[in-house]
Formats: sequence, structure tokens, C-alpha cells
Amino acid sequence: MFNFDYYNPTHVLFGNSRINDIGKHIPQNARVLVTYGGGSAKKFGTLDEVKTALGHRYVAEFSGIEPNPHLDTLMKAVALVKEHNIDFLLAVGGGSVVDGTKFIAAASEWDGDIWDMWSKRLPIQSALPMGCVLTLPATGSETNGTAVVTNTQLGAKMGYNSPLLFPLFAVLDPTKSYTLPKRQVSNGVVDAFVHVIEQYLTYPVYNKVQDRFAEGLLLTLIEEGPKALTSTDNYDVCASVMWSATLALNGLIGVGVPQDWATHRIGHQLTALYNLDHAQTLAILLPSLLHVQKETKRIKLLQYAERVWDISGGSDVEKINLAITKTRDFFEDMGVKSRLSAYGISEDAIDKVISNLKRFNMIPLGEHQDIDELKLRKILSLSY
Ligand code: NZQ
Ligand code: ZN
Repeated sequence: MFNFDYYNPTHVLFGNSRINDIGKHIPQNARVLVTYGGGSAKKFGTLDEVKTALGHRYVAEFSGIEPNPHLDTLMKAVALVKEHNIDFLLAVGGGSVVDGTKFIAAASEWDGDIWDMWSKRLPIQSALPMGCVLTLPATGSETNGTAVVTNTQLGAKMGYNSPLLFPLFAVLDPTKSYTLPKRQVSNGVVDAFVHVIEQYLTYPVYNKVQDRFAEGLLLTLIEEGPKALTSTDNYDVCASVMWSATLALNGLIGVGVPQDWATHRIGHQLTALYNLDHAQTLAILLPSLLHVQKETKRIKLLQYAERVWDISGGSDVEKINLAITKTRDFFEDMGVKSRLSAYGISEDAIDKVISNLKRFNMIPLGEHQDIDELKLRKILSLSY
């Protein structure tokens, strides 16, 4: 087991109607900016519930944070923060709204060029405090210090991480996911699944605790994910998916183990270039990446095959191949297509993705930093 720091300061408020408790976590005299997306928070009443819970505090609103939130949009919110002397941010939405709000929290306190800070990962010294009400279980952003923002002018989608960007609190009310379109339920389960995989499917370091946590989350997502597509208002199913997605990326299962993240880094380029949903990119790339990395991931792939997919017969190669096939089938059964061709993307994407990764100095990738241009080409070619 590697040495590690484990730090997670976010206060989780889990369960039905927990929005009512947010007032206990926000100063009475706070000047609050409530941020949300394209309208689901308003349409389904969550915004009204939040405003009621905020009581007599000063409240301003910022709407229109789009999926894969854009720098330009978020800078408008930063201007609003300054104009209204906002000192607390409250995100109401999915990962994009939470990420976008983290960006606003950092940018509002940064004096220099904000994209420079973000893209060069310069450490921030302060950020506005924020909380969130999660409406889409998927990214884990609600209890981590990471945010991903898109600069459309540069065609760049970049992640940033700081301990100052953990939400102070996160409301996880499973009933909020009842209104999700099927596509977002599917996306959420696939995203959470791949978060676990990228921290689990590397090489063994005798970290049995993280391995068993990871396998438990994968098995839960495999069992409950398909139910969430059909039983859209089953509280227990939605609660299981929501808590799994949070635990998949709150730092816990990633401590003391090697991490991969190549699928995510390549996937972000596919979203920046072709506007694919985040989870769609992961469903396309992960099976191909596992094929190309079969040797370096061999021991953990066998463990994954046996413990997660219950594959006991056949040679090692057969077990690994079957586990990869079952992984792809799971994504497809969840309704997320796992081939670039299924999204109408032609083969010139291979060069474009590689050139974007080069432009942002992201090669080599993987837990051994051994995914070079040649391997990238193989991974992308196998993704059609
Ligand atoms: O904008 P509104 O109207 O709210 O609609 C949203 C949006 O269209 C809708 N939605 C959300 N909650 C709903 C709902 N519709 C009905 N009922 C509800 N309860 O869902 C659509 C997608 O929302 P979005 O927030 O974009 O999805 P998701 O949560 O999957 O977030 C994706 C973003 O998070 C980043 C991704 O790259 C992407 O930009 N990630 C963030 C991470 C992190 N911070 O740790 C890690 C992840 O790997 C990921 O990269
Ligand atoms: Zn993800």
C-alpha cells in the first residue's frame, strides 16, 4: 500500500427532504448566489425548495450553466459575484453545475489570468465557500475538490483540483434523480463505474481494503444500474446508485493505490472535439484501452474477471477477454453505445484526438505512463 493523505471535509446530507437542512450550514448573513443549469432545477421545483430553505438571506440567481460548462458562461457568473458582493455559492444540479460553481468560487478570488491558472494548474490561495444540491448522481464532484471546464475558443476541456474546492456540504436526496431522462441515468452509472475502474484496474499493491471497496461499488452498480433505468422512482435503487457514484470519486477508494485516468483524459478530448456526453466517451474508450493494456493490467484484470464478473473457467487470456466483453456489454445494456462509429464519428478523429492531447502535453498516459502515441492510435482504432 502506498503512503497517502486522506482528506474529505464535505458534510454529506443524505436522504429525502434534506434540502430543508441547508440553512444550518450557511451563515445567516451570507449573500448567496444560487447557480443552476438549463432549467431542470426550476422545472422540477428544486430551486423553490432551495430558496425556501435559504429563508431571509440575500439570494441572487445564475442560470444557464451548460453540460461540460463553458469558461465564457462561468465568467458571467464571476461578474455577478463581484457586482452583488456574493460571499457564498450554492450549486443546484449535476456535475456540470457543481464543477462550474467550483470554477466561479476560484475565479472570483483570483487576480491574474484565470485560464492561465486553470490550464497550468497554478495553486489557488482562496476560494469562495460553496455548497451543493446534487440532482444527477454521476461525477462525484459533490464531495471532491475537482472541476472540469471547457474553453470553447481553444477546443480545450481541462480538469483542475484544489483542497479549497471541496463543497462545504452536499445534499444527496435520491428523490431528486427521479426526474432524470434515461440518457442521464445511463451516463451516471457508466461514469461512476469507470471512476472505480480507473482507480482499481491498474496493478496490485496489496491494498486489500481499497480493492474490496472498489469491487463492492462495481457489483452494486452492475446490480442496481439496470434497475435504475426501469424503476425510475424506486427510492432504494436510486439511493444505492447515488451513494455509489459519490463513493466512486470522493477520494476514498483511490488512496494508497496507483491510478490510471487515461480513459478520462482521452475522453475529455472527444467531448471537446465532438460534443459527446462525458460517459459516452468512457464507454467507447475503456474496453479498447483494456485490450491494449492487457499485459500491464494482467493481474488486476484476472482479479476483476473472477471477483466482479464471476468468471472462473478458461485460460487467463480467455477470462480477461470475457471480462472486457462483459464490461462493454454492461455499457450497452445501460443504453450507452460503446463504438465511435455508432455516434457517426469518422476515423479522422484519431489524429485530432492525438493532436489535442499533444497540444496540452498529456502524453504519455496511464498508471505506468506507458500509453504513448502508438498505443493511443491502437486504442482509438479499436474504438470503432
Ligand atoms: O441543465 P439542466 O437543465 O439542469 O439539465 C441537466 C443536463 O442537461 C440534466 N439534469 C440534471 N439533473 C436533472 C436533469 N434533468 C432532469 N432531472 C434532473 N434531476 O442532465 C443533463 C446533464 O447534466 P450534467 O451536469 O452535464 O451531467 P453530469 O453530472 O454527468 O456532469 C458531467 C460533467 O462533469 C464532469 C464531466 O467532464 C462533465 O463536464 N466531470 C466532473 C468530475 C469531477 N468534478 O470530479 C469527474 C468526472 O469524471 C467528469 O469529468
Ligand atoms: Zn468521469
